[in-house]
Amino acid sequence: MKSCLAVAAIVLVGVGSLAGCGTDPKSSMGFTLPDGNAKQGETLFTSFQCYECHTVAGVTVPESQSPDQTIVRLGGEVSRIKTYGELVTSIINPSHRLPNRYHAEQVTTDEGASQMTNYNDVMTVTELIDLVAFLQSQYTLSEYEPTVYPPYY
Ligand code: HEC
Repeated sequence: MKSCLAVAAIVLVGVGSLAGCGTDPKSSMGFTLPDGNAKQGETLFTSFQCYECHTVAGVTVPESQSPDQTIVRLGGEVSRIKTYGELVTSIINPSHRLPNRYHAEQVTTDEGASQMTNYNDVMTVTELIDLVAFLQSQYTLSEYEPTVYPPYY
């Protein structure tokens, strides 16, 4: 009987801690990438023709040949650097979150999905890692400028 209670307690604690931490099995917790080769990533950006729909702040990339395509700027000054997880998600699951600086209709298809090309069956994991390393190195943190309030009399 005692051991039964002990087991029940352990199970309860286990369930409790699971619920408490809220560890969603689909959580990205524990996600980490090996170091990528940013230089190689820059080359891949051109070979995968990402430039058809993107520019990268401060980097010279070929010009888009798709005049009707919304050009989404990557890199540059941001208030928070994009994490590896966010960049990987943007590439392998682009519809997951659309950048809020564009109107949805500028970056989505009629069905509401991202206009971005699906590379999941053509890109190797190494290529993905290198692209992410390249892109992440292009973001800089914008300086925080405190609001200057005039003196109050
Ligand atoms: C046919 C057009 C198209 C191509 C080609 C394309 N993208 Fe995109 N991409 C988009 C659009 C549109 C968005 C904005 C909507 C979204 O987030 O899915 C986007 C979003 C992104 C974002 C997130 C931007 C942000 O600020 O949230 C990243 C990162 C990205 N693309 C990387 C790439 C890379 C790397 C390639 C090449 C391997 C590529 N894209 C090729 C259209 C494209």
